[in-house]
Amino acid sequence: MRRTAAAALLAAVLFSAGAAPAQQPAFEPVGTIADIMREIIYPMSDALFYVMRSPPETDYDWNLLARRFLTLAESGNLIMMDGRSVAEDDWMTYARELVDVSRSAHGAALARDLDAIQALSPRMEASCRTCHEQYHPRYRRRPPPPDDR
Ligand code: HEC
Repeated sequence: MRRTAAAALLAAVLFSAGAAPAQQPAFEPVGTIADIMREIIYPMSDALFYVMRSPPETDYDWNLLARRFLTLAESGNLIMMDGRSVAEDDWMTYARELVDVSRSAHGAALARDLDAIQALSPRMEASCRTCHEQYHPRYRRRPPPPDDR
């Protein structure tokens, strides 16, 4: 009797598992936070910090700049993803600020508004610094900015 009940239960479990909708493919983090910082966020934000070194002139230049700011905005989203983010409120707030300021920069690049891009520089710098002060383990020993390399 017990065995029959167990078999029925097992059958129910198997049946419901079989009837469950197919699992969606899950995203798979590839780079670490440090990789995304070093390889994406750092170079893409330099396009904003140092925009006056070679100000955009041609269509190509403007499109490239807009693409970089779009990449920067979306990398803010990347560091908010489950499995990669620190998943604390402050982290999410700082990452979201990076998304917002980058989105403004993207809009300014599409509008070809160089003044607006430059004006975002302090806010961008603050968005990096605020998060690093709280979460970067070696913040005070960071490598010098690219000028000094
Ligand atoms: C939401 C938090 C957050 C924001 C926003 C953020 N960072 Fe970071 N960043 C980190 C953390 C955490 C590390 C340390 C990662 C590690 O070593 O594991 C880091 C490390 C770095 C590093 C060193 C990577 C290495 O090789 O160790 C650079 C460069 C960097 N960030 C640049 C930037 C710049 C530029 C910005 C702004 C445009 C920025 N980050 C915004 C959290 C943030």
